[in-house]
Amino acid sequence: MDIKASEKRRAGEAACAFIRDGMTVGLGTGSTVHFTILKIAERIKNEGLKIRAVSTSKRTTELAEAHGIPIRSIDDVPEIDVTIDGCDEFDPSLRGIKGGGGALLFEKIVARASRVNIWVADHSKRVEQLGAFPLPVEVLPFGHTHVMKTMASEGLKPALRKTPDGSPYITDSGHYIVDLHIGKIARPEELAAWLNGIPGVIENGLFLGIADKVLVAEGDNVVTYER
Ligand code: A5P
Repeated sequence: MDIKASEKRRAGEAACAFIRDGMTVGLGTGSTVHFTILKIAERIKNEGLKIRAVSTSKRTTELAEAHGIPIRSIDDVPEIDVTIDGCDEFDPSLRGIKGGGGALLFEKIVARASRVNIWVADHSKRVEQLGAFPLPVEVLPFGHTHVMKTMASEGLKPALRKTPDGSPYITDSGHYIVDLHIGKIARPEELAAWLNGIPGVIENGLFLGIADKVLVAEGDNVVTYER
């Protein structure tokens, strides 16, 4: 396992310490939370941990169910106690970019329904200013070329996400993803509000005021950043 993968594993597993019997747990999507899911499954099997989980993607549902974690619909639970998810970037105020894996819409809905949100990350995700990672924006297929024109007119350098065969990437809810190659995002709150105001934009990948803690593997240690 390379250094980044072992950091993802260390951070992902560390988050399991926040999970207790009886909790409803939100499960994020991605290669870091993958290790959280496997560790939860291990605790269910070895310690008899009793939880129910809400998933943020088809991928996560498949992985969790294959390992014996009971998944409930978000609409069948009154509240989520804690959600553990990855991120693509986070800054010193724990504002983040998510959606590199295409699951930002369900991730944001699950996050907003959660009392506590914990992100898990390798050390490369910590940045001083957001924006080097292209900002994912989920858009309706209808009219997306016009939405992209509006974004381009503000210098946001939009690119439609494609699959390896060249067709548009389709999210779990049937939308497209436009990645904005901005470089540095000076005012994330303003940008998030402006993007969500464009007809055809479903949701943007700026997660602001959402993460309560970020667990970051830095070499052999896991460092906790709190808001
Ligand atoms: C999924 O859409 C994303 O928000 C992921 O949470 C994010 O891309 C982090 O993924 P990794 O843990 O694979 O880096």
